Amino acid sequence: MQTREIIDADHAYMLQTYIRPEFVLERGQGCYLYDTEGRRYLDCVAGIAVSALGYADPDVAAVIRAQAEGLIHVSNLYHTREQAALAQLLVELSFADRVFFSNSGAEAIEGALKLARKLQYELHQAEKHVVVAFEGSFHGRTMGAVAVTAREKYRLPFAPVMPGVRFAPFNDLAAARAAIAEDVCAVLIEPIQGEGGISTATPEFLAALRQRCDEVGALLIFDEIQCGLGRTGTLWAHELSGVTPDIMTIAKPLGAGFPIGAILMTQAVADAIQPGDHGTTFGGGPFIAAVAKVVVEKIAAPAFLEHVREVGGYLDEALHDLMASQPRVTELRGRGLMRGVQVNVPAASVRALAHEQGLLLVTAGDDIIRLVPPLIIERAQIDELIDKLGRAIERA
Ligand SMILES: Cc1ncc(COP(=O)(O)O)c(C=O)c1O
Repeated sequence: MQTREIIDADHAYMLQTYIRPEFVLERGQGCYLYDTEGRRYLDCVAGIAVSALGYADPDVAAVIRAQAEGLIHVSNLYHTREQAALAQLLVELSFADRVFFSNSGAEAIEGALKLARKLQYELHQAEKHVVVAFEGSFHGRTMGAVAVTAREKYRLPFAPVMPGVRFAPFNDLAAARAAIAEDVCAVLIEPIQGEGGISTATPEFLAALRQRCDEVGALLIFDEIQCGLGRTGTLWAHELSGVTPDIMTIAKPLGAGFPIGAILMTQAVADAIQPGDHGTTFGGGPFIAAVAKVVVEKIAAPAFLEHVREVGGYLDEALHDLMASQPRVTELRGRGLMRGVQVNVPAASVRALAHEQGLLLVTAGDDIIRLVPPLIIERAQIDELIDKLGRAIERA
C-alpha cells in the first residue's frame, strides 16, 4: 500500500479514536523517525514517553532476536527465569519488596487499586474504600483508571465508573489533608502529572501526603507510568522528594515499545494478597521480561542517568532562552526530559506546524507542548528541537 492508500484504509477501517497527521511512519533510528515519503522527523514524543532508548537500539534488537528462539509465552501458571530476574532487578532498584506484572499502564493502575482495596478490606471490610486522586490527573482508560482520572471528558460519558473516588486540588496541602479522611483506602498521585499538563508535585506536598496517609492508615500510590524510569534524570521521579510510596505503578518505557506494566509494592501490601486474588494471562511473560530487563539495566546505569541530567540541564537553559525571546511562551514546567512549554497560542497548531518542519511534538491540554524525547537525545538534537519549536510557535 502507498501512503494515500494506507491513510484511506485507516479512515475506512479503524475506529476513529485518534486524529492522525497525514503521514505514515515506517522506520526509526536513534531519535529520528522516517515516513513513507522519505521525510525525517526528530521525535520528541517517543511513542508518548515510551521509546526511552530511541529506535533500533542494538541491545534491544539483540535480546529480541535471542529471545525469539527461546520462550515467548507460557502463562503465569509457571516459573520462568526471565520473569524472576526482572522482578529481582526492579526490587533491588526501588523501595519495593515485590512486583506484579501487567500488560499496560492502565492495567497496572487497576491492579494497584485492587491491591489497596484488598489490604483495607482485610482490616476494615468495605468501610475504608475511598480513593483520593488529584485534579489534573490521568491514570488510563479502563473503568477503574478513568474513575481516578480527573478530566471529565474521559470519565463522565462512561458513567457509572468505579465509585468511591474523591478528587483534591494538586499541590494544596490543606485541601489534601481534609480529603484524606479516615474512610480513605489509598491516595494516588503522579509525582509529575503527564497528560494533565506536566505539573510537578512539590517535595513538601509528597511528604505531607505520606504523613497524612500514615495518620489515617491509607496507602500512598505513586503513578510513575510516564515520569518514572529515568525520564526526570533519576531512576524514579519521587527520588528527589525522599518520600517513598507503598505501591508504585510503572509501564511506558519498560518494554522498549512492547506492552508491559508493573506494580511495585512493599511487603505489607503483598501480605494482604493470597494466590488467586489477582492475575493476568500475558503479564510479564518470558519474552517481554527479557526485553524489559535490558531496558531497565541500560536506564539504571549511572552514566545513562547522568546523561539524562546533563542534556536535561541543556534543554532547560535552551527553553529559558526561548522563553526570553518569545513572548508566546508563558511558562516552563517539568524536569529532566519531561518538559511542558505553555504557549498563549493553540498548542495543537504549534504541533501541526512542527510536523511540517520535521519535528514530532505532542500536547498536554490546549496550551501545553509536551516534550518527552528519547532519553538518548544529544545536545545537537536539542538545538534542532529548539530551532524548529521556536519557528513553529512563531508561525502559529
Ligand atoms: C501517568 C499515566 N498513568 C497511566 C497511563 C495509562 O497507561 P496505558 O496507556 O499504558 O494504559 C498513562 C498513559 O498515558 C499515564 O501517562
